[in-house]
Amino acid sequence: MSRVSETVAIETVAIVGSGAMGRGIAESCLRGGVSVILHDANPVALEAASTTIAAALQRAVAKEQLSAAAATTAHARLITSTSLEGIAGADLVIEAVPERLDLKLEVLQSIEAVVSAATVIASNTSSIPITRLSVPFADPSRFLGLHFFNPASKMPLVEVISTLETAVGVRDTLDRFVRDRLGKTPLLVTDRPGFVVNALLIPFLLSAARMLDSGYASAEAIDEGMRLGCGHPMGPLRLSDLVGLDVICEAADALYGETKDAAVIVPNNLRRLLERGHLGQKSGRGFYSYA
Ligand code: 3HC
Repeated sequence: MSRVSETVAIETVAIVGSGAMGRGIAESCLRGGVSVILHDANPVALEAASTTIAAALQRAVAKEQLSAAAATTAHARLITSTSLEGIAGADLVIEAVPERLDLKLEVLQSIEAVVSAATVIASNTSSIPITRLSVPFADPSRFLGLHFFNPASKMPLVEVISTLETAVGVRDTLDRFVRDRLGKTPLLVTDRPGFVVNALLIPFLLSAARMLDSGYASAEAIDEGMRLGCGHPMGPLRLSDLVGLDVICEAADALYGETKDAAVIVPNNLRRLLERGHLGQKSGRGFYSYA
């Protein structure tokens, strides 16, 4: 029986990890009127995250999506903390650290140790089974997956992933939170490799890299084909650069570990780029150059 109340009101969200996803999730929460405690052990990363969020709020003002007063109020709801104890008062904690099983398990255990019994805990993992992450939990009924898409402040979907142990009330609370506070669409799913979106997307992105590697078509031709032929907002190679080639490879490797499906074997060209430190947009080079 979960100790989390089925009617828990989520007013304060702690986000653990201030990388691209953590920042985007924080911005979405702030714009939804929710207070945010953003945690990262690295003070430089935290400062950069706060600056990025402030700039995004100012862009929203410039685009007349937000009043200047609302942007100021939203940013004032952001607290940063380099100490994990700083997240203790949150109603919901979202773990958004890099996609490594050992790291996520360690961080999730630390989170459960500092929060109250009534706090809901979620992971933003893209491809590690939620059930595997739930194993060390003293109370797995309060834990579930909350998978945002990149850029998290813009993409309208959030996958809400329950395990066999997740309390129905906890799932329903997050269903309402995503819809009513974040203004996004929740997709309620059960735990399977890649959930819905990455199970379909990762083989597609790898397939585009494989086509490029075969010499059959240029990166521009592949991307234009999918943009103009299928109405995708961006082609698969540019999208891979946006998401991060490291993130794609980690997700693919995790999916391969679960499924042994040849469709998620990382092609050579992608592995080579990664070995040279070319991670996509964030490093200035991936399939394309971003000088
Ligand atoms: N990072 C952060 N924000 C970005 C960005 C990036 N790489 N690229 C664009 N944006 C932001 C812009 O800054 C702008 O924000 P603002 O409104 O605050 O100024 C906003 O997106 C709109 O940008 P533009 O007007 O320049 O461009 P578009 O209208 O073309 O939209 C897009 C950009 C939203 C990225 C659109 O091209 C798109 O929807 N692309 C597909 C993205 C997608 O498929 N994401 C899912 C990836 S899969 C995933 O995340 C799962 C993971 O587990 C692997």
